[in-house]
Amino acid sequence: MPIGRTGGTRATCQAERRQSVEQTLSRNIDEIIVDPRTYGDEHSYHDAFRWLRANDPVHYATPELYRPFWAVTRHADIMAVEINAKNFLNDPRQFLVTAKDEDLLFEQTGSRKFAENLVAMDDPKHRAYRALTSAWFGAKSLKSLEDEINALARETVDKMIDMGGECDFAAEIAAWFPLRTIMIVLGVPREDEPLMLHLSQKLFGAVGGVEGMAGMVDAFNAFNDYFSKVTQDRRSNPRNDVATILANATIDGEPIGEAERNAYYLIVAAAGHDTTSSSISGGLLALIQNPAEMAKLRADPALIGKAVDEFIRWTTPVKHFFRTAVEECELGGKTIRAGDNLMMCYPSANRDEAAFEAPFEFRVDRPDARKHLAFGYGPHTCLGNALAKLEIRILYTEMLRRIDDFQLAGDPKWVEASFVSGLKSLPVRYRAAAA
Ligand code: HEM
Repeated sequence: MPIGRTGGTRATCQAERRQSVEQTLSRNIDEIIVDPRTYGDEHSYHDAFRWLRANDPVHYATPELYRPFWAVTRHADIMAVEINAKNFLNDPRQFLVTAKDEDLLFEQTGSRKFAENLVAMDDPKHRAYRALTSAWFGAKSLKSLEDEINALARETVDKMIDMGGECDFAAEIAAWFPLRTIMIVLGVPREDEPLMLHLSQKLFGAVGGVEGMAGMVDAFNAFNDYFSKVTQDRRSNPRNDVATILANATIDGEPIGEAERNAYYLIVAAAGHDTTSSSISGGLLALIQNPAEMAKLRADPALIGKAVDEFIRWTTPVKHFFRTAVEECELGGKTIRAGDNLMMCYPSANRDEAAFEAPFEFRVDRPDARKHLAFGYGPHTCLGNALAKLEIRILYTEMLRRIDDFQLAGDPKWVEASFVSGLKSLPVRYRAAAA
């Protein structure tokens, strides 16, 4: 159960709550780390990981239903692991699924890997596959996308105004804006966007969520069917989009494999929107809860770049990725053996007191928000990080210019999933700014 729920009045609760939290954590930390509900309640998450950073920052977890792993909770340790990609591989374990689901995956696919995509590859293969699209996600192509993203932002804010001053910002706005952007990048027609949204939510809800592996395999197969058709189309009708690059891609003169191509579509399609939308909606909630920060940003729109970094640090939508050690080594005073798995706990790194001043304060002008690890670090650093930041900056610039007075209109609700999670519902009230 979510930790530290002692009830009682505010005044009497603080000390009692702390004591109860300490007891629960020291007895039960391994189960708390893997429980999807921990990730659907930011207080539970941060209580647990603050405790780990203070008491056992590189912690060997042996939860009942999962294969064991090290939980790496400090900013410096995660950087040390991720930069050393020779000793810490992405193959074969990428994220948390139960041992039973890992076995089921193996039975169904003959592999312990969920897909042969960038996050499951290591060098030299990873470098070659990443190079296929990295130019697309670099500054030059993004420049050419800016007009389309600006138009999308205007359309999105028009829609908010048409909604009459009230909406579920997470479900009705933040979920769609990054989806549309990534579909432009991929070249998927607008009418197929609801299907993409449904499939990726099923996929991410399944990974580390309550549905388990069956939901994930279904969503995965449906994605593959869809993108096989896109490949056929782009071979006969090439366009200027990522789908055309992938449909015709070669490495060392050979066409890339079918499994790799489909996995590539999937990672671009799926990684690009639930993550970004979580930072968009979590950023708005943080601004509403911190009116002085909202006022600061409105008074000085040039702060938007720093604010976007802070939204992403604050929300850290990807909760973990794994690495596997090649050789025995030492990390944070612990001996990591060859073959051990390590969980990179990104939201914990982004509240690490040793890395950030007052990490639990949300500050739109935080000078060093950029050093957050929400995009990971090293050779696997998020391929879409510049795109995500561009989208958030453009949407917020438009939104804050044309909409005033954001207020909560109901209780926010979070997705309960240990891999990618954020707000699923954020009811807000607002009014159109005077022209
Ligand atoms: C706020 C939004 C986003 C967050 C928080 C996020 C987070 C992450 C993280 C943590 C990783 C793994 C990094 C590592 O292992 O070191 C990653 C990888 C990746 N992300 Fe993102 N991401 C976001 C948006 C996007 C977007 C918009 C795209 C668009 C295509 C994208 C595509 C990818 C891809 C393809 C990878 C795999 C890179 C590799 O393994 O080489 N992401 N992302």
